Amino acid sequence: MYIGIDLGTSALKLLLMDSAGKILNTVTKEYPLEFPQPGWSQQNPEDWKKALMEGVPELLSGFTAGDVAGIGSGGQMHGLVVLDENDNVIRPAILWNDGRTAKQVDYLNNKIGKDKLSAMTANIAFAGFTAPKILWMRENEPENFAKIAKIMLPKDYINYILTGVHSCDYSDASGMLLLDVEHKCWSKEMLTICGVSESQMPKLFESYDCIGTVDPEVAKALGMPGTVKVCAGAGDNAAAAVGTGVVGEGGCNISLGTSGTVFISSEKFGVDDTNALHAFAHADGGYHLMGCMLSAASCNKWLLEDIFGTSDHTAEQASITDEKLGENHVFFLPYLMGERSPINDTNARGTFIGMTMDTTRADLVQAVLEGVAFAIRDSVEVARSLGIEINTSKICGGGAKSTLWKRIFANVLNCELEVPVSEQGPGMGGAMLAMVACGEYDNVKACCEKLCAVASIVKPEQSLVAKYEARYQQFKKIYPACKQLFAELI
Ligand code: XUL
Repeated sequence: MYIGIDLGTSALKLLLMDSAGKILNTVTKEYPLEFPQPGWSQQNPEDWKKALMEGVPELLSGFTAGDVAGIGSGGQMHGLVVLDENDNVIRPAILWNDGRTAKQVDYLNNKIGKDKLSAMTANIAFAGFTAPKILWMRENEPENFAKIAKIMLPKDYINYILTGVHSCDYSDASGMLLLDVEHKCWSKEMLTICGVSESQMPKLFESYDCIGTVDPEVAKALGMPGTVKVCAGAGDNAAAAVGTGVVGEGGCNISLGTSGTVFISSEKFGVDDTNALHAFAHADGGYHLMGCMLSAASCNKWLLEDIFGTSDHTAEQASITDEKLGENHVFFLPYLMGERSPINDTNARGTFIGMTMDTTRADLVQAVLEGVAFAIRDSVEVARSLGIEINTSKICGGGAKSTLWKRIFANVLNCELEVPVSEQGPGMGGAMLAMVACGEYDNVKACCEKLCAVASIVKPEQSLVAKYEARYQQFKKIYPACKQLFAELI
């Protein structure tokens, strides 16, 4: 058996899978997310550890723990986890959707220069990336900065708790803006710019490499043997792509979680000349391009749960009947945490526009679902402008459970959406990477060919494609009209 871990923004999701890919059990452990200031986002790594230590015994209860061969994680990317010389956490982790680093991003992109950054790391600076956060800490918390012995990413902290090894895989390391992505090594120049040394960085691995076995004390506490192997794992988007079988050349995966991403896998290294898309390593040993929006399913959750005070998403979506699709006059800019791809604007904010006295609650719900799809299309259009054909994509994540949302996406993107049999995304990918690390499969591609199947396909409907094309052209004008105002409102 294999354990797959998805270290998400809202919860740690654990799954137990047999070697044929059958999911035997799942456990979810939620933890808090702090927003100490508007646009800031933090989490306590100790909460992740607690979720792990409580969750694994629950996951294994009723199963023969001695049959567990390996563990693999997919984790929220970019988060800055800092440990002191005794491996204690110095401060809360600053997460992928934190926007406090506008000044440091400006320094990196405009003083160091985008061309130079791109040459060193294949990417430019975005507020959520790890390097600007290190610079922020150096400027704003010099005492904490001086204590840093190790810099890690969120899922690497989980791997450290399990094994005592400070590791990182290439897919996740790509999002630090400290990795020379093409050559898969730390960029010495970028480390110098950030004032850190290579000894403070974790050791690099391929995602499917074994980093070690579970520490005997930890294994005892988790109720498992000390022979269990732990693989390096991957950033959650690369792990989700493995879980949906998007590896090798030219596959596409759309993930609708707290964030929304479009992930295009490739065997060869390549950079988007505009740097609007991230150029990262993939968990299969290859590379990928990715667009990431910061608030996707979280926009829907925010409107329904925080504003309307209901958790009945199905009931809210039921009033969005067929004839309303493509006809909504209300638009929503989904920038509740600022935005990453492709606009790279920490000042951008969530915005409803176009309401009249006859606007209904359902119109607002629909506008949110559509706004998220339009914003993903912004990244898809960047990829298409590079000559990448996106006519078919896998779709996964919590938001993809909604039949209506998938239909809106298929029509907004004019793209067939393949729904995988297993909806487990990063956790499934993590377990599959562990299978490769344990020698169950020769490589990630072989594992995907065996375990990833498509359950159903959502096809675009030409009349709706035309209506949504017109709506998207209107949507595209809203952000440029508000951009200056957003900066003034901060
Ligand atoms: C990707 C990104 C998000 C997080 C979500 O660049 O920041 O998708 O990984 O967990």
